[in-house]
Amino acid sequence: MQGQAKLEPEGRQSNQNHHGPFYRSAELVAAVHRAEGGIFEGFRAAHALGRIYAGTFTATAVAKTLSRAAHFQGTPISVTARLSGASGDPRKAPLNIVAMATKFYLPDGTVTDLIAITLPAFFARTPEEFLEFAQAKTPDPKTGQPDLAKLQAFMAGHPNAAKALMLLKDQPGLVSFAQVSYRPLHSYLFVNADGVARWARYHWEPEAGVAGQPLEELEKQSHDYLYEEFEKRLQVAPVAFRLELELAQDGDPVDDPSAMWPSDRERVVVGRLELVRRITEAEIGDPVMMHDPTAVTDGVEISPDDQIIAVRRGAYLVSVAERTGGRQAHAKFSGSQGSDQ
Ligand code: HEM
Repeated sequence: MQGQAKLEPEGRQSNQNHHGPFYRSAELVAAVHRAEGGIFEGFRAAHALGRIYAGTFTATAVAKTLSRAAHFQGTPISVTARLSGASGDPRKAPLNIVAMATKFYLPDGTVTDLIAITLPAFFARTPEEFLEFAQAKTPDPKTGQPDLAKLQAFMAGHPNAAKALMLLKDQPGLVSFAQVSYRPLHSYLFVNADGVARWARYHWEPEAGVAGQPLEELEKQSHDYLYEEFEKRLQVAPVAFRLELELAQDGDPVDDPSAMWPSDRERVVVGRLELVRRITEAEIGDPVMMHDPTAVTDGVEISPDDQIIAVRRGAYLVSVAERTGGRQAHAKFSGSQGSDQ
């Protein structure tokens, strides 16, 4: 039974994912650079523009019945949340695809990360599909725009990606980082103190309610408008999100972030995040602030057959190496000008 099962780690076998975390890492990051229109020294390859906020996460009483994870036990946990736009070009202001990457600072001194975005689903099930998608999205050097024919060809061969892209077409511009739902998209296995395990997907839902505006309206605003709007809210009151788990039923794919589940799946509220103020990397004492999708903690597991989550850690580390000086060092060492390869 997939939705709920007694956990038997040796009985669950991975049958698809034979890739280690560094599978095609450099290639994946080079593809992201090309799709994002270049390398922006010192910035993340994707989600370049962002600000970090500090707050607290408190689990509800039901959370610990689903997972024995330290942050699901009800004790308030310190959290940072990096709010970002999706582009790898920091000159581009956030519009309708934005993200919230949270770090939970657990009582035993370890950290667990949760990276969520405002997409309905991801565009790829495998690293190969991601490379194809990035290639199709890469702007044509002549027009500076993605080639629509290439994107259409990709969609024709990938119905899940086509569905996500169609939904995205109708996704309005943001009114506020505080009024949008963020989704980590991958499925996770939640294991409680008795060893009972359940597959689920996370959702962050804004307490202020979801709202949008025409993209053209948002485009009229200044580059940092959405951050300033968010910080004005924080001056008045904390900004809060509910953390919900969407519980899988038998047959729901748990290894494919591009496959949506039927919309009627039961949802359980497992916690509340309250963001209270802006914070810097220096104050946190973490100048890199890499968010690692595979940094889960006991009581939460990633899917062993999800080929996308398997390769994200490696790609993110390559981006970290580049943005903290690796690319410049490499260019000097090899005598190259630091091309995107
Ligand atoms: C093969 C698939 C993917 C690749 C190659 C990829 C690549 C990257 C890279 C290179 C970075 C910059 C990391 C850093 O410098 O710290 C990044 C950041 C990010 N990615 Fe992905 N990504 C993938 C899938 C996803 C998915 C499925 C999501 C959806 C949740 C996602 C959401 C984000 C977010 C929110 C950030 C910014 C994190 C932060 O604020 O620190 N990515 N991605």
